[in-house]
Amino acid sequence: MSKLKLGVLISGRGSNLQALIDACAAPDFPAEIALVLSNKADAFGLERASAAGIATAVVSHRDYPGDKPAFEAAMDARLRQAGVELVCLAGFMRLLSPWFVGRWQDALINIHPSLLPSFKGLDTHERALATGVRFHGCTVHHVRPAMDDGPIIAQAAVPVLPGDDAHRLADRVLEAEHKLYPHAVRLIAEGRARVDGDLVRIDGPLPELATVLNPPL
Ligand code: GRF
Repeated sequence: MSKLKLGVLISGRGSNLQALIDACAAPDFPAEIALVLSNKADAFGLERASAAGIATAVVSHRDYPGDKPAFEAAMDARLRQAGVELVCLAGFMRLLSPWFVGRWQDALINIHPSLLPSFKGLDTHERALATGVRFHGCTVHHVRPAMDDGPIIAQAAVPVLPGDDAHRLADRVLEAEHKLYPHAVRLIAEGRARVDGDLVRIDGPLPELATVLNPPL
């Protein structure tokens, strides 16, 4: 079985990268990480990749002051040299241009810590608490030029609980992220998540989900 080659883009601690590394370690997982690319030389995720024997590259935006096209062309070249087929953004903190997004049309995905389309952007946990939603969560989606926009591949919901602060809620969401990202990558690698216009269709049988109430009955 030939595995889908992933390029993971990071800027920081890389806990989602770690979840992908761990998933890819299973022999039956249909993807492998060909390259971890960071725009920051001190990103802890680079150490995680090296510890797992995965190739790394640093392309710093600071080396291309005022020249985003050159920065992105350098990233694009590294990804292609490594034979990457699917780019996974995992805490990558630079907005990508329409050029880069177009180069990787339907082969560029992101994980965002909210149930999109609610709470695009930063500070999602604080805003979820301030809004009083009873469920929060995370989303893996295809990337489009607009921020945190694009066909949704998979979501995980977690309850917002009495006494939560942003940290507790963030921890609960992050635990869900670590399950969701490998799951979404698997669906894509198995050819079961197909982009159809603005939507992603999931092929194959799926177990029914129960309705969850919060607060519970
Ligand atoms: C995660 O919360 C992810 O959803 C968001 O950035 C954070 C990255 O965390 N896009 P990590 O670097 O994967 O630990």
